[in-house]
Order: sequence, then structure tokens, then C-alpha cells
Amino acid sequence: MSRDVLSTRLVHHRVAPLRRVPDLAEDARMGLMERPRWLPPKYFYDARGSQLFEAICDTPEYYPTRAEAAVLAAESRRVIERVRPAHIIELGSGSARKTRCLLAACDALGVHPRYWPFEVSTQIMIDSAEQLIADYDWLHVEAMSGDYTAGLAHLPLPAEAARRLFVFLGGTLGNFDPAQADAFMAEIVALMGPGDALLIGLDRVKDVAVLEAAYDDAAGYTAAFNKNVLNVLNRTLDGDISPDLYRHQAVFNRPLSRIEMRLIAEQPHRVHLEALGRGFDMAAGESILTEISRKFSRDDIASLLARAGLREAEHFEYGTGDYSLVLAVPDV
Ligand code: AVJ
Repeated sequence: MSRDVLSTRLVHHRVAPLRRVPDLAEDARMGLMERPRWLPPKYFYDARGSQLFEAICDTPEYYPTRAEAAVLAAESRRVIERVRPAHIIELGSGSARKTRCLLAACDALGVHPRYWPFEVSTQIMIDSAEQLIADYDWLHVEAMSGDYTAGLAHLPLPAEAARRLFVFLGGTLGNFDPAQADAFMAEIVALMGPGDALLIGLDRVKDVAVLEAAYDDAAGYTAAFNKNVLNVLNRTLDGDISPDLYRHQAVFNRPLSRIEMRLIAEQPHRVHLEALGRGFDMAAGESILTEISRKFSRDDIASLLARAGLREAEHFEYGTGDYSLVLAVPDV
């Protein structure tokens, strides 16, 4: 853990992992050698992958980003009025584009919280923090760089005497399977005191055609995003995988209520990953599961929160239940 004062209103904390998380070599050794084969979705986001994700968000088919932005724009004021936070702590803040809505509401209401983003992409976080302190003369940012999957318990957070608003946006909880999601929620709740609140965005179950189109846009950005993980493997593990030998697939698994993204080998071929000192054979039609994105019903959300010891204080919806932004508080 280290602390750098970058300016009078911007401090950068480097947060060391609380527990070890597997690196790409370990994940690839585990996931690619198992049947069915899988990879964790976090490796999508190299420079090109992050650009492709931005492009996905602008496609007509991918509604979640717009839906969340719209609910935030409509409801931020209500959230801030209700919580009146002294601190806003955001997990996975990215470029804080959506958080701006919350800060604008704070500004308008004369509520002046300190902002604590926790983000793995340090440069993106620092750049956006500099912009934010330039825009809001009252704002102090405590930027925390690190990996939230490596633990939360050791974050250098303000004492719970002041009201704190925890924020987890983007529907990212959907990337976790149910056990991982419960474990992550429990870690967040362990940080929370009785006066704190959590604002979380979750995508909802809807028409299968709409869901599948959102993960297979006509312009092909999602397909390129999915295949790009093979470039990440090649570069990081000195591999020889040809992305062109794979086809992108996105299907909604109804019983598990989740989109499953796969890469499917179109012809049999051998893959070699020099850094692992080994290769493996892909059969024609064999797939790699690269991402799950779970879709929740209102009941799923209520029980997810209840299992974590939270209850809904406010449940904002976009459209006819297409997306949920939930303000949850400890159920004491
Ligand atoms: C950023 C994890 C919310 O699951 O919808 C978008 C990632 N993958 N298109 C999602 C994603 C394919 C996205 N999250």
C-alpha cells in the first residue's frame, strides 16, 4: 500500500491485493485445459478490448449502458437527497462517466462528498479524477488503484461515522456466478455500517431476441471484442492462436438466466502457448466459454440483497423493467 499526494485535492492510493488472484497463465492453464473450456472475462479489457467495449456501448443493440445512464440521469438527485453522503466509494469506476451524474446532483444540492474510486486501470482513473476536480472546486478525490476481486477489507476508507454511499454500476455483478456474486456482496456489506447505502446496477431478464442481439451486434463489435481475448492470450503467453479460426456466439441460457458468450472453433487445429510450455487440440465445433452475463428478475434482485443482509430502499427501473438501479441499505 502506498499513498501519493498528486495535488491538494487528489491523492492516489496503491492498494496491494489482500489475497492472491490467479494471473492469465494460471487461468489459462486451468480454464483452457478443462472441458468445457473457459476463460475469465476480465482479460477482455486490454487497450483494444476497452476501445471495442466503448464501441459496443454505442451500438443500437447494446442497451444496458444507455439504460443505466438514463436511470442515473433521472434519479441521481433523489439518491443524493436521500443518502446525503459524506463519501462516495465506487468499485470499478472506469472513467467515472456515469458517476458524473451523481456528482452533478451533489453539486446542485450543495452536498459535497469526498469521492473514492477503486479501479484496476490506474491511468484512466487518475485522468478522470483530474477532470473531476477541475470541474468541481469542492471535490476531493482519493483514487485507489487495485483489483476489487483481490479483496475489499483493506481499503483505506473513511470511518463509518460519516454517511457513505457505495456504488457498483455497469451490471458487472452479472459477470459473477451466483456463489461469486454472493461472496462479493458479502464483502461489500462487511464494509458497510448502518447509516451507509449501496447503489447497484443490474440488468434484467427480457425478450431473448433483445438479449441475444445485445451480445451480437450487427456491426460486429461484440464479435471482435470476444475474439480479441485470443490476441491477449497470444501476446501474454506467447501463443499462436488464429482468431480467424473462431466464430463468436452469444446465447441466452434460460434456466441459468444468463447470456453465455463463446468462441467456437470452426475447424480442428492445434494451439500452442509457449509460456505454458504446452498446447492443446481444438476439435471442430469445440468452444471456449469467455463470459457469462446474468440477467435478473425483480425477485432475483430482492433475494440477492436479502442474502447479503440488505433491503431495497429505492428500486429505479428503466423502461418496462429493462434495467434496475437499486439503492440498498443494511437490513437492521
Ligand atoms: C461490462 C460486464 C456489464 O456483461 O454486459 C458487453 C460486458 N460483454 N458485451 C456485460 C459485455 C459483451 C458487460 N459488462
